[in-house]
This record gives sequence, structure tokens and C-alpha cells, in this order.
Amino acid sequence: MSQTPPSRPGPNARAWVERDAKVVSHSYTRTYPLVVQRAYGLIVEDVDGHRYLDFTSGLGTSILGHCHPDVVKAIHDQATAFIHMSGTDFYYPSQIKLAEELAKRCPGDEPKHVFFSNSGAEAIEAAIKLARYHTKRPHLISFYGGFHGRTLGALSLSASKTVHRRGFGPLLPSVSHAPYGSIEGIEALFATTVPPDEVAAIVVEPIQGEGGYVVPPPGFCRELSELCHRHGILYVADEIQSGMGRTGKFLASEHEGVVPDIVVLSKGLAAGMPLGATIAPARIMDWPPGSHANTFGGHPISCETALVALQHLDGGLIAHAAEAGTRLIAALGPLVDRSRLVGDVRGKALMVGVEIVKDQASKLSAPDARNRIIQRCFEKGLLLVGAGRSVVRFLPALVVSHDEINRAVSIFAEAVMEIDRELPRAA
Ligand SMILES: Cc1ncc(COP(=O)(O)O)c(C=O)c1O
Repeated sequence: MSQTPPSRPGPNARAWVERDAKVVSHSYTRTYPLVVQRAYGLIVEDVDGHRYLDFTSGLGTSILGHCHPDVVKAIHDQATAFIHMSGTDFYYPSQIKLAEELAKRCPGDEPKHVFFSNSGAEAIEAAIKLARYHTKRPHLISFYGGFHGRTLGALSLSASKTVHRRGFGPLLPSVSHAPYGSIEGIEALFATTVPPDEVAAIVVEPIQGEGGYVVPPPGFCRELSELCHRHGILYVADEIQSGMGRTGKFLASEHEGVVPDIVVLSKGLAAGMPLGATIAPARIMDWPPGSHANTFGGHPISCETALVALQHLDGGLIAHAAEAGTRLIAALGPLVDRSRLVGDVRGKALMVGVEIVKDQASKLSAPDARNRIIQRCFEKGLLLVGAGRSVVRFLPALVVSHDEINRAVSIFAEAVMEIDRELPRAA
């Protein structure tokens, strides 16, 4: 793919981007001008016929690859049966079957209930409301670097970039943030500003995503969940990015044997269709009819594709993701020695981040170099996105092959070495 002439974006993409600028909200975060025409497997084709290897999986969504035949069939079959009837007001089998499957897969022996929504942020909103409703406590705690979405409640928890928050306040009151990975940070809050018996929930990503692919110290999630339980606080695992097999287990929480009180899923849940799920023991999901609902949540088509995704996870895809991830991390690792710009390679299975730095000695963030590397990869036919200040994230579809990993790493390495040569060296 790197042999294609470097004419990306082509004339058609340029024309679409110009039209877009006139009518589409400028709040979106497009890093490069990819204008998609079609996609299949890990391949994306743009409107000029250029092909790209997609290591973003549509932002962590298309876990079976783009347009997987089983997903396309599920969409087609459901669309020809009926498209929508609102699970808020009526029943349909796919929503019930999906709730059964999710309840079965989430850790813990208690019977569970599932609340369906359309997106990650909405699923987090449901978790916030449920935690407050169930505990009758107002306060919420989340972590610096965390990202939980952009609706006002979810945004109040998010603390990864000020641009997400600037101009939108006041946000929810009674929300505090602590340093990620530090139990002492939570204890300091309890000792100084936040009485633990007023805290409804602590919301945590088992691995921080948007905040920079940060893996917490071993044992952190387990200790945090124990701390929560000692104080009657609900432990909410935001598995929107890390769930659905991405880290080599169904949930990343399972790596430490954590049984969250509330699990939040979205992104890969419906293999590319919009869906959010908030899952909790029935004992906790004790809100009455009418207290929370939405029109499109748990859409019949999304429920059908989610059932397909779960079947594939059961059919060996999680083990494949674990093995492919080990291979990806091993292939990227040597770049730390080859380029001064590569400060760290980290992550679990197919949730992998490469930290781009000014130089190995200072390890200072280098957002410009990171952006140039991502742009150069785009020009060479590899799609990647950033995270945090200075991280490149690799989150391919879970079906990624060894050959695709080798090609992606080779294009990425080429781009890193080129930018390394182009950037001035410190005197
Ligand atoms: C961990 C996490 N939580 C919440 C969200 C918000 O999801 P959405 O963009 O679907 O609202 C995201 C999205 O990137 C995420 O990564």
C-alpha cells in the first residue's frame, strides 16, 4: 500500500473537505482529510480510489473489520423484518437476547439488568443517574486523563483535555478528579474534600483511552474496587473502549478479577452500529418504570449486529486478539531503540499506544512530531489516530492478521524514521 503515488488526499477528497468546511460543525477532530467511499475488512477506500490499511477500526467500533458479511447480513435481515419499534415502549426478541448474553458475560454471579442507549456518552449518563438513584448520594469521582464522553454529565467526569470543557460550564456539581493509578489520591480526597459516604460512584477506565493509552499500575483496579466496597461506593468500569475483547479478555476489568458494580459498553459492542449498554446487578438497577429511557437505544439492527459480534468473540476472536496484540507490541517495541522520537510502547492486546517524545533523555511530549507521523502514515496508506498529548494509538479490528500487523508496523516505522530525520536535533 505504501507504493501508491503520494497524492493523498486526491482531488475528490479535497473537494469534499471544502464542502464539509462550509456546512459541518467545526468542533470535530479530523486529523487528516480521509473521505471514505467504501470499506471492507481492514481496508478503507477513499473517494479518489486510494486504499488504506485501517488501524483505527472506525474509532474502535468495527471489531470484526468493515462490512463483515455476517454483520451485513444481520443488518439486512433485520431491516427487511422491521427497522425500529423503540424498546422503551415495546418488546422485541433481539434486545432481550442481547441483554441475556451481556448479563451472562459480565463478571459476578448476581442476576443483572441491562439499560440500552445509542452511544458511549449516553451509556455513561445512564451509569451516573443509576449510581445516584441507587445510592441516594450526590458525589462522583473520576480520574485526570480520563475520558467518558461529551454530554454534560459525562463531560463532568472527563478530564483529558481542557478543550473538551472550555466554554461549556458550569458542569455537574459534586464531581472530583484524582490522579489515575493512585489509591492514595482517592484517600487524599476522602481525607480533605469528599466525605466517602457522600460518594455514589467512582468511574474508571481500566486502561485510559483518549487520555493517552495509560495502563495503571498492576493491582490498581482491584484495590480501587475494594476501596469502593468498603465505603458503599459503586465501582463503574468504563469499558467503552477497552471492552468487547479488545484487551484479550471480554472486559479489561477481568485481567485483575474485578467485578464492577456497573459496566459500561459501547464502541465495538455492535460491530460498527451505534449502541450503548449499561449493565448492573438487578439489585443495583432498581429504578422504576419511566425513570430513564430513550427512543432509539437498543435499536433492533444494532442488537442483531451485537449478537453477531458476541458469537465471533465466543468463536475464538478474543484469543486471536490477545495473540495478535502480543505480536503488535513486540513488533513496535524495537522502535524505542531505533528512533529518539519513540518514548514508550504500551497497552494490552489490541489497545496499543506509542508515546512520541522530543528525545529519549527528556521524554518530553512532542505533539507536533506525533501529528506529523500520523499525517505521514496517512500519506503512505495507514490510518492511525492520536490519543493524549503525544500518543499514537493502534486499535485495529480484532480480526487483524499477522500480515496486516507487519505491514502497519513497517509503514509506521518508515514514517517515524522519516520524521526523525526531518526534525532538527537539539544542539
Ligand atoms: C472510554 C470512553 N468512554 C466514553 C466515550 C464516549 O463515547 P461516545 O463517543 O460514543 O459518546 C469514549 C469515546 O471515545 C471512550 O473512549
